[in-house]
Amino acid sequence: MKSLLKFITCGSVDDGKSTLIGHMLYDAKLIFADQKKALEMDSKIGSNDGEPDYSLLLDGLMAEREQGITIDVAYRYFTTEKRSFIVADTPGHEEYTRNMAVGASFAELAILLTDASKGVLIQTRRHLRICALMGIKHFVFVINKMDIVNYDKRVYDKIKADIMELMKDIDSESIYVIPVSATKGDNITEKSEKTPWYDGVPLLAYLEDIETEKENTDRDFVMPIQRVCRPDYKFRGFQGQIEEGVIKPGDTIKSLPSGETAVVKEVYVCDKKVEEAVSGQPVTLVIDREMDISRGCVLVNNDDKAIVANLFRSEVLWMDDTELQTGKSYYLKLGTKKILASVTRVCHSIDINSGKRKTCETLKKNEIGVCEIMTADKIVMSSFTKINSLGCFILIDSETNMTSACGVVKRELKREDNVVWQNMDITRQIREKELGQEAKTIWFTGLSGAGKSTLANALEKRLLMLGKHTMILDGDNVRHGLNSNLGFGEDDRAENIRRIAEAARLLNDAGIIVMVSCIAPYERDRKNAADILGEAFNEVYVSTPKEECARRDVKGLYAKAESNEILNFTGVNSPYEAPRHADLVIDTTGKEINDCVDELMKLFI
Ligand code: ADX
Repeated sequence: MKSLLKFITCGSVDDGKSTLIGHMLYDAKLIFADQKKALEMDSKIGSNDGEPDYSLLLDGLMAEREQGITIDVAYRYFTTEKRSFIVADTPGHEEYTRNMAVGASFAELAILLTDASKGVLIQTRRHLRICALMGIKHFVFVINKMDIVNYDKRVYDKIKADIMELMKDIDSESIYVIPVSATKGDNITEKSEKTPWYDGVPLLAYLEDIETEKENTDRDFVMPIQRVCRPDYKFRGFQGQIEEGVIKPGDTIKSLPSGETAVVKEVYVCDKKVEEAVSGQPVTLVIDREMDISRGCVLVNNDDKAIVANLFRSEVLWMDDTELQTGKSYYLKLGTKKILASVTRVCHSIDINSGKRKTCETLKKNEIGVCEIMTADKIVMSSFTKINSLGCFILIDSETNMTSACGVVKRELKREDNVVWQNMDITRQIREKELGQEAKTIWFTGLSGAGKSTLANALEKRLLMLGKHTMILDGDNVRHGLNSNLGFGEDDRAENIRRIAEAARLLNDAGIIVMVSCIAPYERDRKNAADILGEAFNEVYVSTPKEECARRDVKGLYAKAESNEILNFTGVNSPYEAPRHADLVIDTTGKEINDCVDELMKLFI
């Protein structure tokens, strides 16, 4: 079977989006696939007297349709000899941000158009962030209208450099930049002679060959229950779409949130009993015992990645004209579950243009931000990076029925039930004013021996001389007290960073300038620290190479690690993931400490 690539095109009418797709279809003499057949194949048994169930085509954000709101996303199906494609074509203008989010939520790859005569615009940045939020990892930048700029390589190089700079901020697996003329047809289906300097492939060939995701079928089995099917007293089947993995008769499954297990007796796809069903297929499962399962439950074969929780941190795109109201009741729809929920706290918004965090109390239309959300009861979810389908949700205004936001789950927050935020009269702002400084956290990350503590110490002395109020949280020191129960495994390091970030936040709330010096080797832990600290977070990557750190070996730990006396030693037998977009990078090799402090002062104080 041919593989399927689902992609979205982003750009405004002026960028030549329709022309581009139109030209591609025309040049390649592409055939439209038969939608109706696809629907029949996907349909399940036991509903509507065997008629196709159109609801199976609607999922996630498509719930908007249930509310009678028209979403202007055009889906086109086409197929070449090598591959089948579905393209979501959405309007690019800001007022259609919600449509873009809908299109992006279904796509694996995004084509972002830029006009060669205009370069990277704010709109490109917005489209990019929305695509990234919705989990897209593969990006193709089409620099269109190359004919207008005489196919000038320098124009391409300049825009490509801007794009690469922009992408530093974005989590991606592939980036490709193609010079194109949509009207003239250059580099769309065939390589253009007008761009001899371009050594890549044309757009269609790239789309035909790119490997997007690891096969979904290699993953653990995940199926949110859509309905329980009881056509007569003898038959009881659980229906839904397999989001990930494979299921066969004889497999043991677990139902969440209850945790009960059962063995699968029969698997149906449409009205046919099958030996195996795979991700993407709507199925009916019959199990070997009575179990209390209803819509919103999730069947899995391994519950490592799923979370059952009622409080979580998320990143959301606000789409409602009315701004976000903390404490207000919204309906949260995640997978097949719909439940009342409220935003308990807006941690910060993310500037579309710069990617910087901004402290704020609410989110307005088209803003992206990080919030904490509480649901009325515990529900089954997952962080978006682990199980996509259980990690994305929408919020629906319970009064107007508008889809107010879409978002992704970042992580569960553990908090005792019945604990609420207590508002205090003396705020961080008041304390900052009192101390005459802006509270912030300067987080030094890097290998052991890179010079993090030395830098933090020297910076603190300089700040003290200026009459600033400061505190250092040093990895080694904190591990003697607050974190003395933690080791160096991945989970312990994550908890180490979380506690340090929370402690830094408390100090920031007291108006203090905090310097943190700890290795923090994992990107996701540093991101978590950034979420906890919000706008106050500043990252300094002390990039002194490992060879230099090992040569210094102040604590004699590298020697011990090399002879396997220490396990999990960062840089030797445990990884260090270098930050990709630190606010400042300092390699201390052969550098005067005072010069480094000058640099830090210039940037942060
Ligand atoms: S982190 O990885 O969790 O951020 P942290 O900065 O708190 O580490 O602690 C690192 C310090 O612990 C190092 O400077 C070193 O002195 C000591 N240490 C002991 N064992 C290890 C290890 N396996 N890996 C890294 N550092 C270690």
